[in-house]
Amino acid sequence: MAMAKSLVVVLVLFLLSFLAYSTTVSHDGRALLINGQRRIIISGSIHYPRSTPEMWPELIKKAKEGGLDAIETYVFWNAHEPVKRQYNFEGNLDLVRFIKEIQNAGLYAIVRIGPYVCAEWDYGGFPAWLRQIPGMEMRTDNKPFKDEMQTFTTLIVDMLKKENLLAPQGGPIILSQIENEYGNIQSGYGAAAKNYIEWCANMAQSLDIGVPWIMCQQADAPQPMINTCNGFYCHDFQPNNANSPKIWTENWTGWFKDWDKPDPHRPAEDVAYAVARFFETNGTVQNYYMYHGGTNFGRTSGGPYITTSYDYDAPLDEYGNIRQPKWGHLKALHAALKIMEKALVYGNYNSTQLENGVQITEFTGKGITPGCFISNSNTTLDATVKYHGQNYFVPASSVSILPECKEEVYNTAKVNTQTSIMVKKRSQAEDEPEELSWSWRPEEMTSTLKGALGNFSDHKLLDQIIGSGDKSDYLWYMNTFDHPYDMDMTLQVATQGHVLHAFLNGDHVGSQYAADGNFSFTFEAGVKIKKGKNYISLLSGTIGHANYGARFELVPTGIAGGPVFLIGDGGMKHDLSSELWAYKVGLNGEDNEIYMDNPNDKWYTDSVPSMRPFTWYKTTFKAPLGTEAVVVNLEGMGKGVAWVNGNNLGRYWPTTIANNQGCELCDYDNHTVPDDHCRTGCGEPGQIWYHVPRSFLKEGEPNTLILFEEAGGEPFNVNFQTMVVGTVCGHVEEGKTLTLSCQGTRTISNVEFASFGNPVGMCGAFQKGTCDSQIALDAIQKACVGKMACSIKGSARVLGDSECKNMPVSLAVQAVCS
Ligand code: GAL
Repeated sequence: MAMAKSLVVVLVLFLLSFLAYSTTVSHDGRALLINGQRRIIISGSIHYPRSTPEMWPELIKKAKEGGLDAIETYVFWNAHEPVKRQYNFEGNLDLVRFIKEIQNAGLYAIVRIGPYVCAEWDYGGFPAWLRQIPGMEMRTDNKPFKDEMQTFTTLIVDMLKKENLLAPQGGPIILSQIENEYGNIQSGYGAAAKNYIEWCANMAQSLDIGVPWIMCQQADAPQPMINTCNGFYCHDFQPNNANSPKIWTENWTGWFKDWDKPDPHRPAEDVAYAVARFFETNGTVQNYYMYHGGTNFGRTSGGPYITTSYDYDAPLDEYGNIRQPKWGHLKALHAALKIMEKALVYGNYNSTQLENGVQITEFTGKGITPGCFISNSNTTLDATVKYHGQNYFVPASSVSILPECKEEVYNTAKVNTQTSIMVKKRSQAEDEPEELSWSWRPEEMTSTLKGALGNFSDHKLLDQIIGSGDKSDYLWYMNTFDHPYDMDMTLQVATQGHVLHAFLNGDHVGSQYAADGNFSFTFEAGVKIKKGKNYISLLSGTIGHANYGARFELVPTGIAGGPVFLIGDGGMKHDLSSELWAYKVGLNGEDNEIYMDNPNDKWYTDSVPSMRPFTWYKTTFKAPLGTEAVVVNLEGMGKGVAWVNGNNLGRYWPTTIANNQGCELCDYDNHTVPDDHCRTGCGEPGQIWYHVPRSFLKEGEPNTLILFEEAGGEPFNVNFQTMVVGTVCGHVEEGKTLTLSCQGTRTISNVEFASFGNPVGMCGAFQKGTCDSQIALDAIQKACVGKMACSIKGSARVLGDSECKNMPVSLAVQAVCS
C-alpha cells in the first residue's frame, strides 16, 4: 500500500514537473499560441555550421539583446551524413548543442529540417551518395528518395526528442519545417509534385513532434501544414487557410555574394520597413534570413559561385560583430512592436487608406491598449499625416509606429542608431615579425600525369559529382593512348565547369575558369602529340554544386559527357569521349592530409616559388592578442583552399573581380535603392579577407597556416589582422539621444565632426550647416573622448543654441575609436 502511495506521489511529481516545464504550441488564424496565449515572434536565422560552437553563445546573446524571441536554423543533411549511414554531429555540426545554447539563452528555436535546404549550400544539402541509389529521383513522388528523406528526417526528429528539445517536452523548439520552397519550382515535376507534397505533409505529421509544421512558399500546402512566405517583403502574403497565421520564414536582410559580383547591402531602413508592414498587415511570426550569415567553411558553399564569406549584410556580421545601424535600428523596432504585442494579436484590425499610398492601421479592443501604424508606401513622396488632431511626418517608403496610437515612438526611415565602420588592424601578437616566412612543397602529380590507374575507370566522361562522390573539389580524368607519329594537334575539352587544368605528357598546357556565370565552356590548347604512348590528364575543379531549381541535382559539373577531342590536320576530329578514362578523386595532398602538418611531411624553405600553380605553402604565426575577430588577408594568392591548424577556412579566390553592376548611388533618403539592395565593391577583388575563428587558434604557441594554391599566387603579402570598429557616426533629430559606442575594448579617441543645427550628408561625409551651434563640438568632445561609449542628447541645453529658424534641427557626430 505504502509502495503504491509513493508511486502515485512520484508520478504526480513527474507530471507536475513536466507541466511546469512543458510549453504547448498551437495556432489559430491570427497567431501562434504559446501556452494558449497568442504571441508575436521575432526570429533570426543563424546556421550552426557557419560559425563555431565557441561563437554560438555570443551570437545568440547578441540576437537576444537585439530583441529576438527565436533562432531559426536549417539542418544540413550532406554535412551530417557525408557517407550513407555514417553520421557526423561533432564540432560545428553539433545540432543538439546549438539548440541547447538557444535554450540556455531563454529563446525559442525554429528548426527547418528540409532536408532540402537551398541556403547557398553545396548541392542544397543533398548528399552526393543519393545519386548512387538505383531509380533515384529527388524531390518528387519517388520511393527511393522518399525513403531516404524519411530516414534522415526521422533521425533528426528522434534526436531532438531524445534530448527533450521540443516545446511540449520542455525544449525550445516551437516550429519545424519540411521541404523548402517547393512551390516555387513544383511545376517542373508535373502531376507527381502534388503527391510528393501530400506525402511530405503526412510523413512530417506522422513524426508526432507536438509543434506545428511549416512549409514555405507552398500555396497548396495540405492542412495542417502552415504555408509561409519568403522574400524581401511579405505584407501582401496570405496563408492558404483561414486557420493558418501569417508567418514570414525568410526576410532577406541582405543577400549572398558571388565571387564575381559586388557585395550586396540592404539598407536597415528597408528591412525595418518590410517588417513593420508585415506586422501592420496582421503578420505575427517573422524570421530574418540571415541574422548572422557567417562563413562557408570547408567545401560547404554551393550555388555554385558563392564566396566563402556568407556575411549576407546581416545584423551580425560574418565575424559576429554587431552591424550598425542595422542591428540597433531593428532592435528599436522590435521594442516598439513588443509594446503593442497584445493589440497586434488580440485587437480588432481596422485600416484606412488615405491618398498617395498612405494608410492608417489601428489595432483596438476592449481592455487592450491600442496600437497603430501609419505607413507610407509611396516610394518617392513624403507625407505629413493628420491623425487625431496631430501631424505626423512619414517619409516615403516608411512606417511610423504609435504604440498607444498617440505618439510616434519609431519610424522605419528615421535611424537614431549609430553607424559603425569596421576596419582591419594589423595583428598585435608579441614579437610578430613584419613578414611571415614560408616553406612550400609541390602537389605530387607525377603519377596522375603519366598514366595512373586512379581509383576506377570507365568508358565515359562522368559527371563530377558522380565521379568524385563530392569528396573533393577535384577530379582527375586521365586517358592514355598510342599514336603512330609526332603531330601538332588541338586538345578540345567541353566542360560544365567550374575550372579545368589540362596536361599532356606531364606538361601543363593550359587552365580555364568559368566566367560571368557561364559554367559550361570549351577549353582549347595546341598540343604536341608524340609517337608512342601519350597521356592526357585533365584536372577538373568545382566550386560547389547547384542548389536551386527543379531537378537542380541533375545540373552537371565537370567534364560530364565532354566531348573531348583531339583535332588534327584539316580539322579532323578524334573523339576520346568513350575511350577508357581512369579517374582519381581529389589531390594527392588531400589523400595525405598535408593540411594537418604531419611532422614527417617534407617542406622546402629555399626558393619559395611565386605564381607556381599546384603548390602547397606553409607558415607559422602567433595568434593576435585580444578577443577581436581575426582575419587572414590572402591578397596575392590565386585560387585555392586555406587551413589553420588543420581547420579548413574555406576556398579562397582573391583574383576574382566583381563586375561593375549595381554600385550606383544608393541612398534610402533619396529613394535610390535599386531592387531592394545596393552593392559596393564593383571592380574589386571578390574576397580578400578570410575569417579565422578564435577557437581555431592556439595562444602562446605557433599556429600553422597551410594553403593549397591551385592557380599560382604569391604568399608574401599574406598577413593576419583583427576586425575593429574604426569610425562611429550618428545623425538624430533634435530631442533624441545619440549613443556612440566603440563596441568592444577600444575608446573614442577623437570627435572628428559634430554639428547641432542643420548638418547635411552621410556618415563619412557630413558637412556643417548654415546655422550650427558654436559649442557643440567642444561639448561632445568632453562627453565622449576617452570613453568606450557616450550618449548625447540633441538639445540646446547640452549643445548650445543653434541659430536655425523655422527649420528642423538635428545633431550629427563622427568620431574615431582607437
Ligand atoms: C531562398 C531559400 C534560402 C536561400 C535564400 C537566398 O529561396 O529558401 O535557403 O537560398 O533563398 O539566400
